[in-house]
Amino acid sequence: MNTSSLFIVLVALVTITAAVDNGLGLTPQMGWNSWNYFACNINETIIMEMAQAMVSSGMAAAGYQYINIDDCWAYSRDKNTHVIQADPKTFPHGIAYVADYVHSLGLKLGIYTDAGTETCAGRPGSYGYEEIDAQTYASWGIDYLKEDWCHTSKDVPLERYAVMSKSLNQTGRPIFFSLCDWGTDNPWEWGPTVGNSFRTTGDIKDNWDSFMNNLMLQVPITSYSMIGGWNDPDMLEVGNGGMTNTEYISHFSLWSIMSSPLIAGNDLRNMDAQTLAILTASEVIAVNQDQLGRQGALVRSINGGLQQIWGRMLADGSRAVVLFNSDTATSDIQLLWSDIWLMSGQSMNVRDLWARQELGVYTGSYMAINIPAHGSVMLRVY
Ligand code: GLA
Repeated sequence: MNTSSLFIVLVALVTITAAVDNGLGLTPQMGWNSWNYFACNINETIIMEMAQAMVSSGMAAAGYQYINIDDCWAYSRDKNTHVIQADPKTFPHGIAYVADYVHSLGLKLGIYTDAGTETCAGRPGSYGYEEIDAQTYASWGIDYLKEDWCHTSKDVPLERYAVMSKSLNQTGRPIFFSLCDWGTDNPWEWGPTVGNSFRTTGDIKDNWDSFMNNLMLQVPITSYSMIGGWNDPDMLEVGNGGMTNTEYISHFSLWSIMSSPLIAGNDLRNMDAQTLAILTASEVIAVNQDQLGRQGALVRSINGGLQQIWGRMLADGSRAVVLFNSDTATSDIQLLWSDIWLMSGQSMNVRDLWARQELGVYTGSYMAINIPAHGSVMLRVY
């Protein structure tokens, strides 16, 4: 092992031991969640069809693994045992039945609850029932839990999430724990001690301003993310129709370089070819899933941020770069080697990760020409 690989292994070990001790989230989670497209209008058929589509579309082969049921599956608690019951109208066979089906396809099932007394949609929350809920989820075969923050009154997020975190660990079943307090109380400072990812913003909407807002909120906190505990600027809107494909390419490029969870939020049963191509771009996903787990950062802003250069170190020593043109007009962007921790005299290979094409060998800088309005170029420099 050479010195730089040894250094990488040591960094990884230190960061792993700092995170919640459930062995999960060694790379950002990849999957699908029902909320962005279906909101409350879900049922077991939709969830099972989505699992099927994840496999048949090629998304599973590209690395997507979790099928996550969001709000509105829970109905009531049994009066005597306090065990949570799924909505009998929409999940008549119960959640274990859905889990068995999802597992039979080689996928994992996620579920949703709330740290307060009720979920955001008014279904029963887990407050005071964390232990029994964790046991119930484990008995159903659940692999992932998202815990929301509605109806929590004066509770402290770290304290409440710690109760569920401990309860999940006590089940003995590995359950990925996704915190969703929308950035309340700076979860990037304490989130990794209790969960595997933590929302850093309010809800994303399927439009440019919402995407930009969530992106810019990440700028000051990109150094907090770590292996096992990822910053989560919310789920993907790719394919939902409110943005152009050029904009979705920027969304996916930036979420990838930021080690954000890649949780698709579109109808996987009805995707056009372009949507599928974005969601399964293998060289872009490889950056997101890089073993070093170092979140990309905004390394240089040009014209007050209209053009942005995001950079990231990768485990093999190469650099990933997104040249992002947030302007409404076409623009060139020049990447300098000094932006990405290289000496200007170095000659480097440049590869276009969306085109999957070598662009040649450059010394000191690389100029990307004619990046469309709201568009991005994603590169690997090595
Ligand atoms: C909150 C969360 C969303 C979603 C809804 C469900 O708004 O932030 O991601 O889970 O609740 O009601």
